[in-house]
Amino acid sequence: MAIGYEVPKDILIKRPDKNTPLAAWVGPVNFPHGFHAVQNPCKSCHHEELDRTLGQFLPCTQCHNQSGMDSKADFYRAFHNERTMSCLGCYKQKRYSGQAMPPLSCVASCHKAPEGGKPQ
Ligand code: HEC
Ligand code: HEC
Repeated sequence: MAIGYEVPKDILIKRPDKNTPLAAWVGPVNFPHGFHAVQNPCKSCHHEELDRTLGQFLPCTQCHNQSGMDSKADFYRAFHNERTMSCLGCYKQKRYSGQAMPPLSCVASCHKAPEGGKPQ
């Protein structure tokens, strides 16, 4: 039996409701999801999706929606902690292991610079 997954091509990652940004200039982030899904196994990011939930790929923000940076349920930490399944953690690991040289600066990577100025 063939199982087809929906693999979105481009995703706009939006801040969850009632989540306070750590920096005021940070807006929604364009994420080339299809590209990343070809380069990495789904479960390297969708760490909750095992065989028992085939076909149900949840948005990270369903669980990672809290403000701040002290809890594993924080929106910020899902994308910035030092572990492989976060964006920043994976970029750092690829750099240090010499596999690739992905940008590590906020605005050169994922966040567009705010109108008329630099991020704080
Ligand atoms: C590099 C990390 C990464 C990889 C690899 C990855 N995804 Fe995702 N995926 C994400 C992120 C980030 C989101 C957006 C989550 C959000 O907005 O909260 C997402 C969202 C999705 C969504 C939309 C969920 C929704 O209801 O909004 C689906 C479906 C999905 N991914 C399926 C897959 C499948 C299938 C694979 C493997 C073929 C895969 N993804 C590989 C990071 C990844
Ligand atoms: C169904 C809920 C759920 C979904 C969906 C989910 N996570 Fe998680 N995530 C968790 C839980 C619970 C933990 C804490 C696990 C632990 O303590 O080992 C966690 C831990 C993490 C961590 C480590 C956090 C830290 O600071 O140590 C990262 C990074 C992470 N998730 C990224 C993601 C990304 C990226 C996605 C979407 C592609 C995602 N998660 C989707 C529930 C979820």
